[in-house]
Amino acid sequence: MAEKDDIEVSEAGLFPALYKPPGLLPIAQLKDALLYTAETYPVTIIVGETGSGKTTQIPQFLHKSGWTSDGSVVAVTQPRRIAATSVAARVAEEMGFFPGQLGQEVGYSIRFEDVTSAKTQIKFMTDGLLLREMLVDPLLKRYSVIMVDEAHERSLSSDILLSLLKKILRKRPELRVIVSSATIEAQKFLDFFASDEDGKVGGKTKNELGRIITIQGRVHPVDIQYLVEPTADYVETAVQTVMDIHSTEDKGDILLFLTGREEINDAIDKITDRIVDFGPSSQTLQPLPLYAGLDTEQQQFVFEPAPENTRKVIVSTNIAEASVTIDGIAYVIDCGFVKLRNYDPSLGIERLNVCPVSKASATQRAGRAGRTRPGKCFRLYTESAFADLPETTFPEIQRSDLAPVILQLMNLGITNVVRFDFLSPPPSKLLIRAMDTLHSLGAIDEYARLTRPLGTRMAELPLEPMLAKTLLNAPYFACLPEMLTIASMMTLQGTVFVSHDGNKKQEDKAKRRFAVAEGDHMTLYNVYESFISHGKKDAQWCRENSLNFKALVKAMSVRKQLRNHLERLGIAETATFDGPDAAKLRGMNLVERVRRCLTTGFFAHAARMKSDGTFTTPKGDVTLWVHPSSIFFHRKADWVIYHEIMETRDKTYIRDLTTVEIDWLTEYAPSYYRTKGK
Ligand code: CDP
Ligand code: MG
Repeated sequence: MAEKDDIEVSEAGLFPALYKPPGLLPIAQLKDALLYTAETYPVTIIVGETGSGKTTQIPQFLHKSGWTSDGSVVAVTQPRRIAATSVAARVAEEMGFFPGQLGQEVGYSIRFEDVTSAKTQIKFMTDGLLLREMLVDPLLKRYSVIMVDEAHERSLSSDILLSLLKKILRKRPELRVIVSSATIEAQKFLDFFASDEDGKVGGKTKNELGRIITIQGRVHPVDIQYLVEPTADYVETAVQTVMDIHSTEDKGDILLFLTGREEINDAIDKITDRIVDFGPSSQTLQPLPLYAGLDTEQQQFVFEPAPENTRKVIVSTNIAEASVTIDGIAYVIDCGFVKLRNYDPSLGIERLNVCPVSKASATQRAGRAGRTRPGKCFRLYTESAFADLPETTFPEIQRSDLAPVILQLMNLGITNVVRFDFLSPPPSKLLIRAMDTLHSLGAIDEYARLTRPLGTRMAELPLEPMLAKTLLNAPYFACLPEMLTIASMMTLQGTVFVSHDGNKKQEDKAKRRFAVAEGDHMTLYNVYESFISHGKKDAQWCRENSLNFKALVKAMSVRKQLRNHLERLGIAETATFDGPDAAKLRGMNLVERVRRCLTTGFFAHAARMKSDGTFTTPKGDVTLWVHPSSIFFHRKADWVIYHEIMETRDKTYIRDLTTVEIDWLTEYAPSYYRTKGK
């Protein structure tokens, strides 16, 4: 008998091969149960395989059954931006809206990109953004239902969100919380919501609080194969496996999991090189990348069906594990690793470590092969290595820089963060480091209270604390318009320069053309100013100068939003404030004022160049490598402050550097440099 899932129905020419009537999804059978539970209990935990319809269907069920009829909104949070945007588009389409109507009844909201309107009833958003909304709407009164999707991923913001929703439920028993989870964490989430000093949430006892609903998916068997001997180079082994599948296995697309963009591009190059070996007559391979940094259009390719006689090979990061659904996958190749952030609180360095995946992740990955028919999963590790994997992924809250989130919690009135009701409490070292950072920036006082106005204002800006502080200080250095531009350019995270058609030389030349001797911040400022003076809309000019047109358009929008934020705080773009050094500052040129202002936010990110061109921390204990994107990759400097520090592949890189004077560090951060030494 044919599985219902195998039936492909073409509807009104919309993505003919992809469009599947939602009624056939596994979740359809549970619609009534789900709506009953949501009606009856404050908390519903929903468990189901990827692709069963949780993300796209639940908000539509709620919408149709009246949860938005009084003007309330159903919110669905996602840990990843790409999931929020792509799912919103999908749901709008299913509800019969044209692509241009996204942002009306169905919309999405991610940092610096709000595609919603007064009409919006279903809103997809990142978990971090919903946290931000609590600053203006602490009880989230606009929402009748909040679905925390992919909660088992344990992203920092979704963990915090669950804690805060638990608090909100006490004041708003009519609010409905739906948590979507993998099996392994479901009971933990329900127990968390139920745990309370008096055993009550919203006046209900534990038993009345919520239910777990499990969707029985129609998953097909997946044949799992392991390596007999471990591989030393999983990218190469992965490429070979792709080629083997292509030459020996039946039709069906391939999904290959690697850890990051470089590996993905490397694998795609290798696959492209070897396709020719198959000769012109045979079926061809179409390798496609999928990672968070791709722009929306590029991401869209992976969802489109492959052309005739073509097998898609989607080479993806962890994104494809659960966040997005790609149909037609019959073969999964799992390298067994994932890139995870890991913050070192003693050095203040963020590491991007390649770590073994958890068993839960490996199982999810394999499951992607059995969505529409029996599939195969090739694990590029041995069976005994699998047995040694940890059960679940280590929560992000236990391995992140907590300064931004603590600042937000404090602004929400949570004064004692140590006693906050965390789902998994972070190690105290991380909490202490975060408090130290906030204290040195002047956001909290010696009694760990948020300062006014600086601390509260920093919390209200959608920027990391160091950058927020810098921007708020800019009027004292008479450089707010410039700092607004710099802050906007910083949010683009290194996507400003691009080499069109892979022409690296031209990109380097363009970089030199815009370079400002004092550093990367003023260089980026220079790029933005040139872009504006060339009439803003000039994509051709961007191409000629190896600049990313879309990124610059984005910077314009971010700048406008930041300016509006400041205006709401009563700070106009033209504002200048007289600090104690006002007279001294008046005699300085703009670039020096900008550099000094940057020092007031980034003093903790100081470094000094050594004779070999690498940098070292003030204490001299860590060697820092200049990121190739910096103008100091080729030039000399003495002391600098940097925007970002990240360790990858055993090297610690710093990026976005600006020269400073050593005296400024003690001038603007006397207590920090007195107690820590130089
Ligand atoms: O959330 P969950 O993983 O349970 O499933 P979903 O994201 O709601 O996806 C349900 C179905 O919608 C998938 O099986 C896909 O066939 C389809 N879908 C799609 O084709 N394109 C998207 N962007 C999202 C979903
Ligand atoms: Mg989903």
